[in-house]
Amino acid sequence: MKAKYSNQKEKLNIKEIEEAAEEIKKGNLVLFPTETVYGIGANALDEKAVKRIFEAKGRAGDNPLIVHVSNIKMVEEIVKDISDVERKLINKFWPGPLTIIFNRKSKEVIPNVVTANLDTVGVRMPNNEIAIELIEKAKVPIAAPSANISGKPSGTNIEDIIEELQDKVDYILDGGFTDIGLESTVIRVIGDEINILRPGKITKEELEEVVNDVKVDSHVLGKVGKDDVVASPGMKYRHYAPTTSCMMIYSNDENKMISRINEEIKELEQQGKKVLVLGKKEHLDKYIVDNKWNMGSDLNEIAKNIFMLLRKVDKEDFDFVIIEGVESKGLGLAITNRLIRACAYNYIIV
Ligand code: TXA
Ligand code: MG
Repeated sequence: MKAKYSNQKEKLNIKEIEEAAEEIKKGNLVLFPTETVYGIGANALDEKAVKRIFEAKGRAGDNPLIVHVSNIKMVEEIVKDISDVERKLINKFWPGPLTIIFNRKSKEVIPNVVTANLDTVGVRMPNNEIAIELIEKAKVPIAAPSANISGKPSGTNIEDIIEELQDKVDYILDGGFTDIGLESTVIRVIGDEINILRPGKITKEELEEVVNDVKVDSHVLGKVGKDDVVASPGMKYRHYAPTTSCMMIYSNDENKMISRINEEIKELEQQGKKVLVLGKKEHLDKYIVDNKWNMGSDLNEIAKNIFMLLRKVDKEDFDFVIIEGVESKGLGLAITNRLIRACAYNYIIV
């Protein structure tokens, strides 16, 4: 089976979004853009359809999916209650890249397969016209993980993922490059406190404008041990990883970082390895290596490019990739969280 392709890059083709919505209603899978990354969507109320997502991605059954909605009424049908803090967050950040983990209403509404049997459900309202139209036309909430085979970097454009996924979905809505490039911030509100389970575009600093107490879960930057109990099952799994070995190097002293990276380059090249460096645009000419790629000049650009670059690495024949780290503040926390996983925790802070 090969999916039907619809080009929505220049302007919306509502007729084709309606066709895609029909596929959702029939229990089929649709690849669609959000403002963060692409998603593989199915009717969140249809257990069989959602099971197909897990098969398509090769995803572990204990890793729950985010349910995407287009209006508040849909949320109220799914969740038990919405607290004052949660309402404030919804008003401030939705539609947008914030997933809130709510208490689940009853097991009959959202099937267990979506939430991996948890008593909670992750919900978000994407800030993307194509996604919102798709949900509106399908008239059901859409469960969707990031569009990638489990373990690989999330898809930020159709070209990167079409080979991987075209035989696994029924319809492809191509909205061009996604705006943000990293997945949504995932949070859980407990009383007046927010716990960040996965950092994203909505930063700790922005959440602090809503409540005083915002914590970053210890597993966001820390390594997850085999027997650790985690607040979000996704934390346990290998993520965002190219096949080529990589290492992240960071120092808040720029020159120190650059010289450490140059030392590593020398050593790896002495071992006969073909090395690639991913760095900020303004650092590139300081590296003593032939192969160097521009990650961007600021955090927004780096966030937008990083998954595309990690995927591109595997199309070439490098033996080793050295990636510049960024300061883990603001959006930098999300970038750091993804990079240390992409490097399988192989990183040095100097
Ligand atoms: O930006 C995004 O969030 C993208 C787009 C497509 O919306 N979606 C996405 O989904 O990144 P996925 O499945 O790749 O990541 C969802 C993360 C996982 O780490 C999962 O464990 C966590 O959210 N999650 C989902 N439901 C949860 C729940 N009830 N409790 C704790 N964590 C949950
Ligand atoms: Mg994912």
